[in-house]
Amino acid sequence: MALYQLFSHPAERGYRAGLCSKAALFLLLATALTYIPPLLVAFRTHGFWLKRSSYEEQPSVRFQHQVLLVALLGPEPGAFLSWSTFPTFNRLQGVHLRIPLVSTREEDRNQDGKMDVLHFKLELPLQATEHVFGVQLMLTFSYQLHRMSTFVMQSMAFLQSSFAVPGSQLYVNGDLRLQQKQPLSYRGLDIRYNVSVINGTSPFAHDYDLTRIVAAYQERNVTTVLSDPNPIWLVGRAAEAPFIIDAVIRQASGK
Ligand SMILES: *[C@@H]1O[C@H](CO)[C@@H](O)[C@H](O)[C@H]1NC(C)=O
Ligand SMILES: *[C@@H]1O[C@H](CO)[C@@H](O)[C@H](O)[C@H]1NC(C)=O
Ligand SMILES: *[C@@H]1O[C@H](CO)[C@@H](O)[C@H](O)[C@H]1NC(C)=O
Repeated sequence: MALYQLFSHPAERGYRAGLCSKAALFLLLATALTYIPPLLVAFRTHGFWLKRSSYEEQPSVRFQHQVLLVALLGPEPGAFLSWSTFPTFNRLQGVHLRIPLVSTREEDRNQDGKMDVLHFKLELPLQATEHVFGVQLMLTFSYQLHRMSTFVMQSMAFLQSSFAVPGSQLYVNGDLRLQQKQPLSYRGLDIRYNVSVINGTSPFAHDYDLTRIVAAYQERNVTTVLSDPNPIWLVGRAAEAPFIIDAVIRQASGK
């Protein structure tokens, strides 16, 4: 005769032990291991199969106190004055060399150890007959990111501005922005671009040529650019007054 299951009930088996027993310890450990390691794995891998992501971080940016200045004079074409912090460059300038007065100040507004703003002021002494129609200015920075990969580079802010009328002052207020053609790696140390933008040890004039410096810089996959859509050109210089460049450079967040 066939048999059928007519009734069933689960049987529960209990185990008793003190809270300080090995069994209690094991149970606690097993529970902890069930929840904590998966969280750690998810956290440490920054998302399991993530291929690309973006994040924001304030870079540590320091002005390296390297300056290269070319002031274009007019109205006769071809006249210029120049100066840099590189002795070799200055030696090559001959009569065009003019030493300006430079003052800089880096400001850490929120006291987090990272500089937020660079105030740069340059006063170029001029004779009464000299008139500035344009300016090319290069400042170099050391730029570091730490949050994911440690990324260290030496970068620059290049500023060029020219107007049809002679100026007394150029006022610039812009952001130093990171520009990437390639994502940064998510860990490790990246010092590919920790090379000086301007080779100050070189004795050759071509190493100080702005065209070459900018061309070599643009070959990089990661650069910084100074973005200031509206440099302000002030006119009306008194005869003996210097030409002034007043720049405020904000070291904005990297991404
Ligand atoms: C720059 O980026 C390109 C494209 O991602 C890559 O092929 C090249 O190797 C990179 N150059 C350097 C120096 O990392
Ligand atoms: C980057 O270059 C500077 C100057 O050459 C050097 O002092 C610094 O140690 C370098 N940083 C790294 C992480 O290699
Ligand atoms: C700088 O120039 C000198 C002389 O030409 C050269 O030996 C040196 O390798 C250059 N340094 C860099 C970083 O290009």
